[in-house]
Amino acid sequence: MIRFSRIHLSFLLFICSTCLTAGFSVEEQLTQIRENYVELKNNLESKVVQLEAKVVQLEEKVQHQESLLIALQSQQPISSKSVSAISQPSGKIYVLRTCRETRAADPSLSSGMYWVDPDGQGVGDDPIYVFCNMATGSTEILHDTESKTDVGNCADPGCYSKAIKYNATMRQIMALAELSNECHQSIRYDCISAPLEINGITYSWWNDRDEKPQYFWSGSNSSVHTCQCGLDGNCVESPAVTCNCDSGLPTLLADSGVITVKNLLPITRLNFGRTILDVSSGQYTLGRLECSGHMAVTGMPKSCEDLWRIGHTLTGLYSVMGTAMVENVYCDFTKLPSDAGFEKWMGFADVQSVPTYFLVTKDSSSFNSTNIPISYTTEKLNIGGAMNLSSGKFTAPRTGTYFFSFTGLIGYPTSSSSMIGLQVQIFLNGVQIGYSWTDEANTVTGQEAPLVLQSTVNLQAGDQVWLQIASIAGAGVKLYSVPAFTGWLLQENLSQSM
Ligand SMILES: *[C@@H]1O[C@H](CO)[C@@H](O)[C@H](O)[C@H]1NC(C)=O
Ligand SMILES: *[C@@H]1O[C@H](CO)[C@@H](O)[C@H](O)[C@H]1NC(C)=O
Ligand SMILES: *[C@@H]1O[C@H](CO)[C@@H](O)[C@H](O)[C@H]1NC(C)=O
Ligand SMILES: *[C@@H]1O[C@H](CO)[C@@H](O)[C@H](O)[C@H]1NC(C)=O
Ligand SMILES: *[C@@H]1O[C@H](CO)[C@@H](O)[C@H](O)[C@H]1NC(C)=O
Repeated sequence: MIRFSRIHLSFLLFICSTCLTAGFSVEEQLTQIRENYVELKNNLESKVVQLEAKVVQLEEKVQHQESLLIALQSQQPISSKSVSAISQPSGKIYVLRTCRETRAADPSLSSGMYWVDPDGQGVGDDPIYVFCNMATGSTEILHDTESKTDVGNCADPGCYSKAIKYNATMRQIMALAELSNECHQSIRYDCISAPLEINGITYSWWNDRDEKPQYFWSGSNSSVHTCQCGLDGNCVESPAVTCNCDSGLPTLLADSGVITVKNLLPITRLNFGRTILDVSSGQYTLGRLECSGHMAVTGMPKSCEDLWRIGHTLTGLYSVMGTAMVENVYCDFTKLPSDAGFEKWMGFADVQSVPTYFLVTKDSSSFNSTNIPISYTTEKLNIGGAMNLSSGKFTAPRTGTYFFSFTGLIGYPTSSSSMIGLQVQIFLNGVQIGYSWTDEANTVTGQEAPLVLQSTVNLQAGDQVWLQIASIAGAGVKLYSVPAFTGWLLQENLSQSM
């Protein structure tokens, strides 16, 4: 509105300035004014069109930002202890767990200091202030001994000892390591006549996350004393020594390496010794703890740890995919995955992707055919449709454990034989997996006896189960009727069907 009235004002001024033009007839002036007016009108119209286009653009931008905000908010459930939005140095965005996630939320951010909260927002420790390398997405934890430091002169092993203070709690550091694919820390020692180890005596070491002494200065093998030149096989007195400094030569040498065992990092203390000689000198440079990448969760979450990696932070009961079935677990997200009690297994969840149970019967029909599937006449229940009445075959819809129970009535003729009867077998894909029979002596017409066959069986999806009369002993013996053939899916092997 304001803009329009301003344009209007300049329009009036324009007309007045034309009024003042001397030496023209009134008609000429009028024509001039009309021409100017038409030109101005066209200008104004095109300007309005431009402005309208701009408004549309702005509206789109606002909408985009709103959706970004909603995405960020839904990603970060805000609970009482959370710092919902800390003013990041480069603007206001929510505090995510790592620099990698921060970069993903806004790829336009440049490297610098950011707040991150590896152990999850709203739980555990407060966010930490770290350097984010946005080119690599790595998170760097600062410490109080980043510049080159002289260890002075002293004689005994570890006579120089310096604790390293990181600008993050150990819980946050461990959470960052668990979220990251890799973590490393570089260490360099510039030495003159200052061996780390000589004549079998260890003068220098570093302490790991658990305060345990470590003697490897590069790589990932904690069982060997070595520096990078030892790993590369190019130390000054190779192969007699595995660190340049261990040669003890009175010239300026250096050992530098990168420690890559993320579960030992960070270096919590540095210890040096045997720098007593006048010519001796030792100076170390310790890099930041740098972590990058992320431990991906592929497929469905299988544990509390997977849920935690995905970003769940609310302690409670969860369902996860077990080796065969859905399982219920209690996840205590106030703890870290490496802590005892982080996950408590509660039990299986009774989940069936296809409910399956049936009950069929066979009317009295005096069935006496052997070696063909027994068929049925009535379907009382057939949930899931796995039972085929006319073929008599059950087809497993899913891999899992099934239960079957068959009750038949066997009809007898009058017979003075000592033993007549009938055998029924249960088949899985044409292979007999169980049987049952009845037999009687000195029978009379109309005599009946039940035959019962039950089975619990592991089936793969598509497997077929049915029953057959295997043999009949005695003329006139028959399957009189089937009062019940029932079966159901006891437990599904969900890991197979997902
Ligand atoms: C260390 O972290 C605190 C917050 O935990 C922050 O205020 C401070 O600026 C950080 N120091 C450095 C040197 O980054
Ligand atoms: C570590 O080094 C020792 C000694 O050289 C070797 O026996 C062992 O296999 C190495 N371990 C690994 C994991 O490389
Ligand atoms: C049941 O089996 C019969 C005979 O094998 C077949 O013709 C029919 O299609 C089957 N019915 C279903 C629903 O699969
Ligand atoms: C269920 O799946 C697991 C994992 O594949 C397998 O070890 C187990 O034998 C399966 N059980 C059945 C009943 O097929
Ligand atoms: C089966 O029943 C039919 C008719 O009821 C009869 O003819 C036949 O002999 C019987 N077969 C056997 C093996 O009992």
